[in-house]
Amino acid sequence: MRRIQIFDTTLRDGEQSPGASLNVDEKLVIARQLAHLGVDIIEAGFPISSPGDFKSVQLIAEKVKGPTICGLARAVVADIESAGKALEAAENRRIHVFIATSKIHMDKKLKKSPQEVLDDAVKSVELAKTFTDDVEFSPEDASRTDLKFLADVCEAAISAGATTVNIPDTVGYAIPEDYAERIRYLRENVPNIDQAVISVHCHNDLGVAVANSLAAVREGAGQVECTINGIGERAGNASLEEIVMAMKMHGDKYGVETGIVTPELYKTSQLVSNLTGLDVQRNKAIVGENAFAHEAGIHQHGVIQARETYEIMKAEDVGWHGRQLVIGKHSGIHAAERVLKDHGYELEKDKLRVVIQRVKEVADREKKIEEEDIVAIARDVMNDLGPEEQILQLKEVSVMTGNSFTASATIKLQFDNKEVIGSGTGVGPVDAAASALKRIIDEHFGSALNLNEYGLKAITGGTDALAHASISFDDQLDNRFRGEAVDEDVILASVQAMVKGVNRAMIFRKHFQLPQSESESRPTGT
Ligand code: KIV
Ligand code: ZN
Repeated sequence: MRRIQIFDTTLRDGEQSPGASLNVDEKLVIARQLAHLGVDIIEAGFPISSPGDFKSVQLIAEKVKGPTICGLARAVVADIESAGKALEAAENRRIHVFIATSKIHMDKKLKKSPQEVLDDAVKSVELAKTFTDDVEFSPEDASRTDLKFLADVCEAAISAGATTVNIPDTVGYAIPEDYAERIRYLRENVPNIDQAVISVHCHNDLGVAVANSLAAVREGAGQVECTINGIGERAGNASLEEIVMAMKMHGDKYGVETGIVTPELYKTSQLVSNLTGLDVQRNKAIVGENAFAHEAGIHQHGVIQARETYEIMKAEDVGWHGRQLVIGKHSGIHAAERVLKDHGYELEKDKLRVVIQRVKEVADREKKIEEEDIVAIARDVMNDLGPEEQILQLKEVSVMTGNSFTASATIKLQFDNKEVIGSGTGVGPVDAAASALKRIIDEHFGSALNLNEYGLKAITGGTDALAHASISFDDQLDNRFRGEAVDEDVILASVQAMVKGVNRAMIFRKHFQLPQSESESRPTGT
């Protein structure tokens, strides 16, 4: 059996999903769970892209042991130096350097000749080698790159020291036969290919990212790049859980195995979905809510007689479990800690203390608290802003609502030791509060933010249930800022979530408010 390396890029390519953005604490928790899942490499971020990304890669490198920690860099000196620095504390570190090699990217984006691109590739691999022996090279848009040139660049990168060459289908253009043929061509035409692992990295624009990755594994690829729940740019990346389970089910045919602890899959999927705010579609393969549900009577009957009639794998094999446990008021701190661990929330001690304290407060007020409540509180605490990030602080909210008059709200915020007040009306109390907040932001900060998503969920049953509010705002440049909060009061949960989102927008503006031309050249993604 060939051991296929699983390279998880949830925290880098996955985080580039529209609508997903994770803070440093959330990334650390996900990275820890990825280590429990048994991934071989964690691509923790793109350190030069923002101070937050740098910090997350640095923290993950320091705290997460087991997998190799990887940082992305363009074929640019500053990027590579930044990745090298961020990864300093890692037990095992990798720098992943990329440069585009397709004609359209070289002509239109880089405005460089093929020779210049090849030279940059070599120089950047050589520089990355000064920080670590483990260097991955990606010719971006490889699936649309001239085959002969692709082979030349791979050969040159390997001669310069690349230990992995990754063949990205950056735009999700490939189909399985063509992609497999490309891998075969490289195996047959790159003289030093045996000195490197061939990796595959497929985007899902045509819905065949997993099929492409499998076809490449069959042709000898030794590493698969993928994300939890298949999140990523546009239609996403190859989904880790799907590719891993396909290789597990058909390991004999492919002659391959992975080191993934598959019973950790469901938990990891839920964790990533909860923290990114990107829901998992109900019928998603492997981890969707319906993946093991049988509606049709004939199927139910069959499964009761013999599970294998309609199920190809066991729910337990992917860690899927049914209903939640109810934690009694007196179940204590250990029960809450166990619930957090079971759901993949391995928090830093200071955060854990805050979560436990809040769980105790809710348990004291209510008769029972369920697993989902504890997870929601943990999410809220992780979504909290640090003291230096609380540019605006919520001081007061009051709302008036009823059946015979227009709902109105007044909000008081503290900013820079001053208090600012805004009022608004709306179709209901939350809408009124949103318009009061918007008025303050428009009047005092001149920053146009549009509320783009609002979600409110009663976490568990009852009129005294905890409410979980999540919002996202867009600014004029389509940057998105999320906020979430949990409270027994739906209005307070909503306003707290909104204030978090506004604070995030203001922090972003403070760090990145650059003249138009500079902000366009800031590397935010690939
Ligand atoms: O899709 C892509 O080409 C990438 C590279 C950076 C590997 O994400
Ligand atoms: Zn990608």
